[in-house]
Amino acid sequence: MYICVCNAVTERQIRALAEQGVRTVDEMGLINGCSTTCGGCLEDAEQILKTSQPTRKKLSFDVSVVNGINQPA
Ligand code: FES
Repeated sequence: MYICVCNAVTERQIRALAEQGVRTVDEMGLINGCSTTCGGCLEDAEQILKTSQPTRKKLSFDVSVVNGINQPA
C-alpha cells in the first residue's frame, strides 16, 4: 500500500528501511523522498517507522568484572 503517493513509497519499503536502521522520517526522506513533497504522509510514515523498529536485546554484564579491570594492581 502506498503511504507516500507523491514519491511512490510503500508501507513495505518504510518497514524495510526501519529494519535497516532508519529512525526518522527526515532520514528516510533523504533516501526515498518520503514526506518531502506535500507532507500529507508524514504522520502515517512516522507511525510506521515507530512501530517497525527492530527489537533490541537488553545488554547485561557483570559489574564486578568491570570494576576488577579498574582496580590498581
Ligand atoms: S504524500 Fe508523501 S510527500 Fe506527498
